[in-house]
This record gives sequence, structure tokens and C-alpha cells, in this order.
Amino acid sequence: MTPAQAFNEEQRTRWNGIDGEYWTSHQDRLDRTLAPVMGPLLAFAAPRAGSTVIDVGCGCGATTIELARAVGPSGRVVGIDVSGPMLALAKERLRPFANTACLLGDAGQLPLRDLGAELIVSRFGVMFFGDPVTAFANLRTGLAAGGRLRFACWRPIGENPWLQIPLHAVYEHAPRLPKPDPEEPGPFSFSDTARVTRILTAAGFTAPAFTPLDIHMDIAAGGTLEDAAIQSSAMGPAKRALADQPEEIRVAAMESIRRALAPYASAEGVKLPGAVWLVAAGRSA
Ligand SMILES: C[S@@+](CC[C@H](N)C(=O)[O-])C[C@H]1O[C@@H](n2cnc3c(N)ncnc32)[C@H](O)[C@@H]1O
Repeated sequence: MTPAQAFNEEQRTRWNGIDGEYWTSHQDRLDRTLAPVMGPLLAFAAPRAGSTVIDVGCGCGATTIELARAVGPSGRVVGIDVSGPMLALAKERLRPFANTACLLGDAGQLPLRDLGAELIVSRFGVMFFGDPVTAFANLRTGLAAGGRLRFACWRPIGENPWLQIPLHAVYEHAPRLPKPDPEEPGPFSFSDTARVTRILTAAGFTAPAFTPLDIHMDIAAGGTLEDAAIQSSAMGPAKRALADQPEEIRVAAMESIRRALAPYASAEGVKLPGAVWLVAAGRSA
């Protein structure tokens, strides 16, 4: 197995297992936390009425629903996801939208040639390919001539206190995670604009433009400081740093997370800054 195949296999397992379970059972909360990205991404992607749009890594369908509304009954939105459980929930939520379809599988490998889409959109669903150049070259085959690519990905973790603060609280008790290989798929694997430019141009897209989006995310999703601490320890790098740690370390880490998040708690939730790239490219001729 090549390193890229091994990365793909690991991602497939995660999104059909531990991560997929978390996202499906917390869909409402995660949609609320990520809501500040929705409006800006839709405005940036500007889906046109009547057009065909592909939503890559559509997860539980939040963006697919909004895209379906935007393209209207004469348009079509195809959501693609490698996670069986997440796509099953997306299908249920998309039942009222006759202009949608869901494809289960690796978006980097599924045959997409027949779609002839005008636009590919993704909210945080394109950073998990083991071989991103091959995967984006495959996505390109789903676009008609003149087609557009618009997606959101995270800027570096140092600019994302909503994940970094809980992680540093965990590091008061648990060992640091190994520094990820720059080619390893993961939430921050598209934070480096030079790497993304290299991948997209090698895959047959025009040189991308990067627009920074700064948001405040309620990691309590309308709940309490305790909800925020639980959510922070159950996702992202903090969760990975706590995996396999004994109960006493987990308890101590939770106490540190609560303390670190307390200054951000208000009547409007527990809001922390997040930093996103909105990336735009086109299909090269
Ligand atoms: C961070 S979640 C984002 C989900 C959704 N876009 C949202 O914003 O709510 C990443 C999504 O990408 C999907 N994904 C990861 N690798 C994929 C692949 N190779 N092909 C298709 N989907 C993939 C995961 O299953 C997951 O649903």
C-alpha cells in the first residue's frame, strides 16, 4: 500500500467510524458552531439558479440544503461523501429537495465525468485526500468547461484559537501530538497557500485566489461553558491528544479546558475566533 492509499484508508475508517459517529450524533450543534461560515461561503461561491453544483465532503448536508435552495428546482446539487452514516443523515434531511442527489464514496476517485457541473463547492471537505493532486484532477472531470471551484478550509491552527486554546489546555496534562507530516491529510492540511496553489495547478485548475474570512464561533452551540468544554474535548486535535489517556488525565484536562474557555463565556454562548481561507479557482482549459 502506498502512503497515499494508507492515508485514504485511514480517513475512510475515521469518517465511517469515530468521526462520522460524532458528526451524525452532534449534527445540530456542529451546524450551529459552523454557521458563521455558511453565509460568506455561499456569497463567495455564488451558485446560479438552474445550474449543477457538486458539494464535496457534504457530510450531514447543511451546505447541500442551502445550495439546493440557491439553484432552485431547475438546478441540481450532488452531495458526495465517503462517510456512510453522515451521508445517510444528509439523505434524510435532503428528502424535501427533489433537486438533490447523494453519492457515497471517495470524491477523489468516483467517476464524475457525467455531471458537467458549473460549480464545485465544499465547506471543510477537501482537506482529507491522501493524494490531493489526483483527487482534484478527478473533481475537475466533474466540471463543465469554464466551471468554478470554491471552497472553505482552515488557516493555520495558530490563527484558530477555538481549537488551539483547548488543545493547549490538554497539553498541560497529556503529551504533545507529533507534528503532522505536511502531506498528511487533516483539518489544517490546506492552511498553506503555497501548498494549495501547487496542488490545484498540478490538478488542472487555474492559480487559486485566497480570501481570508475571520469569524467568531460559538463552540457551546447555544449552550453553556460545560457544553463548550465537552465539545472541545470531543473533536479536533484536543480529542486526538486525549485519546488513550487514563481517566485521571482526562478529568484534569477537562478542568483546564473549562478554565481556559471561561473568559469567552457570555450570554451569547462561548465564542472564539476562527480563521478560514475562502479559495477560488477555475477549471483550466
Ligand atoms: C469536516 S467534515 C465537513 C462536513 C460538511 N461539509 C460540513 O461543513 O458540515 C469533512 C467531511 O469530508 C468528508 N470526506 C473526507 N474525505 C472524503 C473523501 N475522500 N471523499 C468524500 N468525502 C470525504 C467526511 O466524511 C466529512 O463528511
